[in-house]
Amino acid sequence: MCNNKYRYLHISSRLIVASLIVSFAGTAWAVDPPTGLPATAPAPPSLKSVSTPSVPGLTDGPTPVVVNKAAAIALGKAWFWDQTVGSDSMACASCHFQAGADSRIKNQVNPGTNAGGSPTALTFEPLASGAQRSGPNYTLRKADFPFHQFVDPADTSSGQKYPPNGEALRDDVCSSSGTFSGEFIGPSSKKRRFEMCIRSATAPFALNGIATRHVEPRNSPTVINAIFNFRNFWDGRANNIFNGVNPFGLRDPDARVWVVQRNGTTIAQPFVLANASLASQAVGPPLSTEEMSCAGRTFPDIGRKILSLKPLSTQTVSRDDSVLGSFRQSTGVGLNTTYMQLVKQAFSPRYWRGTGNFGRPKDVTQAPYTHVEANFSLFWGIALQMYQGTLVSDHSPYDRYRDGADAALTARQKNGLSIFLGKGRCSSCHHGAEFTNASVNAQSENGPNGLVERMTMKNSSAGLYDRGFYNIGVVPSAYDIGIGGTDPWGNPLSFTDQYKIYLATGIEPKDPFTVDPCSFSTPVDSSQCSTPPSATERGFVRGAFKVPTLRNVELTAPYMHDGSMGTLRQVVEFYNRGGNVSNQELHPDISSIGLTSSEIDDLSLFLTSLTDDRVRYEKAPFDHPSLRVPNGHQGDANTVSSMKGKDNTIIAKDLLLDIPAVGKSGRAAPPAGFWSKLP
Ligand code: HEC
Ligand code: HEC
Repeated sequence: MCNNKYRYLHISSRLIVASLIVSFAGTAWAVDPPTGLPATAPAPPSLKSVSTPSVPGLTDGPTPVVVNKAAAIALGKAWFWDQTVGSDSMACASCHFQAGADSRIKNQVNPGTNAGGSPTALTFEPLASGAQRSGPNYTLRKADFPFHQFVDPADTSSGQKYPPNGEALRDDVCSSSGTFSGEFIGPSSKKRRFEMCIRSATAPFALNGIATRHVEPRNSPTVINAIFNFRNFWDGRANNIFNGVNPFGLRDPDARVWVVQRNGTTIAQPFVLANASLASQAVGPPLSTEEMSCAGRTFPDIGRKILSLKPLSTQTVSRDDSVLGSFRQSTGVGLNTTYMQLVKQAFSPRYWRGTGNFGRPKDVTQAPYTHVEANFSLFWGIALQMYQGTLVSDHSPYDRYRDGADAALTARQKNGLSIFLGKGRCSSCHHGAEFTNASVNAQSENGPNGLVERMTMKNSSAGLYDRGFYNIGVVPSAYDIGIGGTDPWGNPLSFTDQYKIYLATGIEPKDPFTVDPCSFSTPVDSSQCSTPPSATERGFVRGAFKVPTLRNVELTAPYMHDGSMGTLRQVVEFYNRGGNVSNQELHPDISSIGLTSSEIDDLSLFLTSLTDDRVRYEKAPFDHPSLRVPNGHQGDANTVSSMKGKDNTIIAKDLLLDIPAVGKSGRAAPPAGFWSKLP
């Protein structure tokens, strides 16, 4: 045992920290050995052996927040798929409709707006097919992928094929289109489910003076199995702790939820729920001007718009939908209840029963907000987490193989597995049944101290980093600094940088976490248990991103935080050549591997053994209502047709993709995937 632990607990959160530590208890595992795992790492177990992280106080304890789990899951599923939630008909599912991810191919390019000072951050650059400049309404092509190509894909020193030698790698990103954006005015006087926004056709998301839908600056990850992540988003900004209001957990000192007290009064109180990163995540998009909202819309505004509506009021629901079937209206369209009723069934009355005035809408002629509207972000976050918590894919051939069915993997897939565990060094980061070091389980394997680690990087200098977040050299770090970024209050997103600030100033981090230098896999020195690391020690967080799960990865192209790779073979070739860029910040396992062409195929085939057929065929729990998704605009990358939006503003005319409702037994044939759709 170490006699000197450097422990940081946020004073007001001791209680929660205690419960975090309880859920951290796991078996000890040597964390990230400096040069990856032993020659052959143990094969991850079946996901059936792993339960979803417990959320103390959610449905248990003396005063559970949720009193009816089934109602909360139904509410979350309806909200996730409902097009009336967002401005411009955006649902969560609009960007997460296929295997939990997005397979659209038109109007899906962002010019690199996360690339800070880069001169091309607002400029769409040509892509590899060279057919035309990409742009707001560009249709991607197979020949555009990967965005960065080498003369010999196995060798970066062979020189760049695209972009041509001597030119900087492109900072453009393949992602998902969302709203047209604009300034929120209020609900439409004609129909409550429409909203009024002031539009502006501003670059980069405009063509010939017509506003187009905005595209996100990072690729959309799958929501399936995201329940296992300790933090969510590529940069981990969806905090493990849900504060009831926004994604930032204890970092927001003002986050409050309205709670009815024993004496009947209703007061604003801090709210703290651990292992609730999906709830923290879910309260981001509905107000994001790139995803689902015009600027200035608030959660109480959304509550006012939808609480009195019937769920999915314009979408069909399958008779045998695994969750919503029993609430289905006899017409087949929407549910036979209201969101208000579902909220009241699902949540403890102390969060919605209060009376009085809970603030005024922007339009002061409207009535003040009610208690249920004022707490809308709380219901939203928790219901979305509870629905997405059911999206666990543990029926893959790999799970069957690990549960004893030797024939579930082919000989080539077995060979791919041994490359994954050995020579390929894949499992040093894609570790455990979740296939990521960013899972709650992987982060707790070293006790409660596994979140900040130390290792010797590729350039042989040792440094601190956030476990589960690595820079693997997809693009230069300056294009997107990932977990090296900060939150709206200027606090570092990474635990590493918060820890370094503590070492330098004694100021306690806002997030509750503990650091134990004795547990580091690369020692500070022989007396590391008594000497803390120095405040000037290097931190490796710039350009580091969350390790994504590899489950169902066959179905979730494009790949990486910038969506720059189109096939699994392109990903494996990327690792085989040791990344696209060599810099000081790379993990030591990112160096050329030397796989033969047939080994590359075997490893790619192994990755397809992680596909659960229930995801492929959209069987329960992956069945869903119908959805109409904006699918690029009429016209091409040079011209678009315009239309009058529901709020009378002029915007680019949508093309629409109609996705049919699917019941629990799934569809007869799987939908076409991203790669097969590309011309
Ligand atoms: C306009 C497209 C769009 C919409 C709408 C959208 N998302 Fe996402 N989603 C994204 C993108 C892009 C990311 C990655 C952003 C990042 O990491 O910075 C993401 C990330 C996530 C993640 C994190 C997964 C992980 O592994 O880190 C979850 C979970 C998720 N979204 C769920 C939702 C929910 C719930 C909603 C509705 C409240 C929603 N999304 C709405 C595009 C979208
Ligand atoms: C050093 C840690 C590390 C190692 C080793 C590693 N990965 Fe990754 N992997 C990551 C990270 C981090 C990302 C996301 C990086 C980004 O987008 O910038 C990623 C992304 C991926 C993706 C894309 C998934 C998606 O949804 O976009 C695939 C597929 C993948 N890795 C497979 C592999 C395979 C196969 C190997 C072994 C050859 C491997 N990885 C080795 C850390 C690692």
